[in-house]
Amino acid sequence: MNKPMILLAALVLITACAKPQPQAFQVIPMPDDVTVSEGSFCVKGVAVSIDENMDELSQKAVLRFVDALETATGMKTKKGEGGIRFALNPDFAPEGYGILITPESAVVEAISLNGFVYACETLKQMLPAAIYGGKKAKADWVLPCVHILDRPRFEYRGMHLDPCRHFWTVEETKKYLDVMTAYKMNRFHWHLTEDQGWRMEIKKYPKLTEVGAWRNGTCIGKDFESNDGIRYGGFYTQEEMKEIVAYAAERGITVIPEVDLPGHMVAALAAYPELGCTGGPYEVWTRWGITQDILCAGNDKVLTFLEDVFTELMDIFPSEFIHIGGDECFGGEGDTTRPDPWDVCPKCAARMKQLGIKKGPDSKHLLQSFITAHMQKFLADHGRKLIGWDEILEGNLKAGATVMSWRGVKGGIKAAEMGFDVVMTPTDYMYFDYFQSQERDKEPLCIGGYLPLEKVYKYEPFKGMKPGTEEHILGVQANMWTEYIATPEHLWYMLLPRLCALSEVQWCAADAKDYDRFQASLEHSQAMFDAMGLNYCLDYKGLIGFDRQPARSPEELQAYLESEGRKWSW
Ligand code: ACM
Ligand code: ZN
Repeated sequence: MNKPMILLAALVLITACAKPQPQAFQVIPMPDDVTVSEGSFCVKGVAVSIDENMDELSQKAVLRFVDALETATGMKTKKGEGGIRFALNPDFAPEGYGILITPESAVVEAISLNGFVYACETLKQMLPAAIYGGKKAKADWVLPCVHILDRPRFEYRGMHLDPCRHFWTVEETKKYLDVMTAYKMNRFHWHLTEDQGWRMEIKKYPKLTEVGAWRNGTCIGKDFESNDGIRYGGFYTQEEMKEIVAYAAERGITVIPEVDLPGHMVAALAAYPELGCTGGPYEVWTRWGITQDILCAGNDKVLTFLEDVFTELMDIFPSEFIHIGGDECFGGEGDTTRPDPWDVCPKCAARMKQLGIKKGPDSKHLLQSFITAHMQKFLADHGRKLIGWDEILEGNLKAGATVMSWRGVKGGIKAAEMGFDVVMTPTDYMYFDYFQSQERDKEPLCIGGYLPLEKVYKYEPFKGMKPGTEEHILGVQANMWTEYIATPEHLWYMLLPRLCALSEVQWCAADAKDYDRFQASLEHSQAMFDAMGLNYCLDYKGLIGFDRQPARSPEELQAYLESEGRKWSW
């Protein structure tokens, strides 16, 4: 072969090898309607045009995508037509969007911030995972030719976080919001108060954070009588909480704050003991569980305190829903040698008399309903809506409240039949503090239970509901309680990839879910987590625990479970 022929052959070879390949279509949650065709569209140094009629936050969302693209490809984009065009289209549903990619161009359309945020997240997931890495990377920077029309199944797509049992910094919380954004979630339920720590600055009651945000140690493992002797705590200033609210809002996420009442209030009682039935003294709890000490329902000062706290809270959080907790007020496990304070407190007795509540099995629930109703009216007077855990149903819940069903699905089903709106977050399917494998000896310490990825994925929120009551199901949320989760590495391990499964429960039509397709798509999500530097669990692949040890065979597992006195269960 003469020289020019050799050069030509080499050129053909290089071109063939360099032909960029689009990433396999592994978007989670799977968009509603997807048609992938042959070919790809190169986005390196692409021209970008943004409809100037788009609102400021939508434009900012697109610019975040453009910024990630420029960083990852190492090439500036150009302003102008002929590349990716972002445009308003009033035909889309509020959170819906459309993407049309041909070898020549890409068109992205939506009508709202959330639509543009989700379109950008879909674009990112169709690109090499290195786009999540925040640095220049060599990769095939092309999008597949595809037509997508997408919209969510549920309007409420939530994820919860407990910063009280263990504290998460503002930066960690933002990362949590980033992950929620990547999977198209729109409600962040922030559980800001607990027995083990009060985490929100309230200016009128400075001792809530001076005293209530700090505990004198933490029990070691599951030995509730023990104490590691290490002072632990932290709180968010009002400025920091506003920063989180703004960060979330830019990503289409509403932050729903929770002040859990009248139970789970020991940290507040430690700061202001006069708010309890006995007057204390109380200590910020160093162990987990349910305490008997709750707010006094007979003391008007408690109502004033709550109104003051919620007044400051509403200044920080624009969310229409405000969460008042309401769970686990009775049946405390602390000092069982004494009766529940509400059973013996003269002020509570006087309140019951005033309300005409007779002594009986329901009396404490009815007394709790008095506080719930008071807060519901206070919130309504300020244009907000009350949401609470399903215990609020047990007394006499007033119309207009929304119920978060956590003790299984029964509470949610009953609430919907009674005409209440419901968010489903049942322990059996949505508690991400549960074990992900049966092989507990290989897993980090955990509260218990067993919630593998597949079980999260297969949750169907309408199951067991009477026809016509489904419309009350606003959506689905998973909860992340952190008694046994103390480090970001452990937090991500418990969250991922179960959050991905949750996203398909929240987003995809019931008949569009497919566990095999979903599991195959996790290959790309795993690469995304690697690029983001997040830990994750591979139990679903038979690689168990932090160390990813090989799973036991079925026979070995059976023998192991028997040795622990347990049975396999789902
Ligand atoms: C809860 O898990 N106590 C709502
Ligand atoms: Zn009392």
